Amino acid sequence: MKKNSPTLILQYCVFLISVSIIGCSEKSAEEPRPPLKAESHSPALMEEAIPEPVVVTEKTRETYQWYCAQCHGIQGKGDGINAKFLTVPPRNHTKASYLETRTDEQFFEAIKFGGLSVGRAPCMPAWGNTLSDSTIHELVRYIRELCQCEAL
Ligand code: HEC
Repeated sequence: MKKNSPTLILQYCVFLISVSIIGCSEKSAEEPRPPLKAESHSPALMEEAIPEPVVVTEKTRETYQWYCAQCHGIQGKGDGINAKFLTVPPRNHTKASYLETRTDEQFFEAIKFGGLSVGRAPCMPAWGNTLSDSTIHELVRYIRELCQCEAL
């Protein structure tokens, strides 16, 4: 029994340390991050029905360059700087022959909930916590612009 007590003390220390580490990271996670442009714009729109028609603006293009181009490429051709590190190549957003076999809802879901949600690769991240619904609808429109094709 005595032999065990240093080990117990050690374990307790490790426990304390890990609690303090976890405590710290939780604390920092609670710190408010600066609001994204899309959020500060009109938070009330977030979960509500999107205003029709969805219009692609300069801000939409900027959002694409900011969040999507590193994989999908500056022109959406699937050739972003990260593309070669992914096990599944990012979708080429200019390839009409494929994209016209997909619906806008499928795009929306893939963007909001990630590739897995539409039976695609998990290396397409989910953006629902980063981008508002209206921004995602704009991105879907923008992809339709890039491929110059219509939804299925
Ligand atoms: C980390 C890399 C990465 C980033 C960043 C990324 N994507 Fe993707 N995306 C992928 C990959 C990989 C696929 C292909 C998944 C597959 O074919 O299985 C994909 C597929 C897609 C698809 C097609 C889904 C389908 O039906 O085939 C859409 C639409 C899409 N991405 C939109 C976006 C948008 C919009 C953004 C930015 C908000 C974005 N992606 C950011 C990697 C990425």
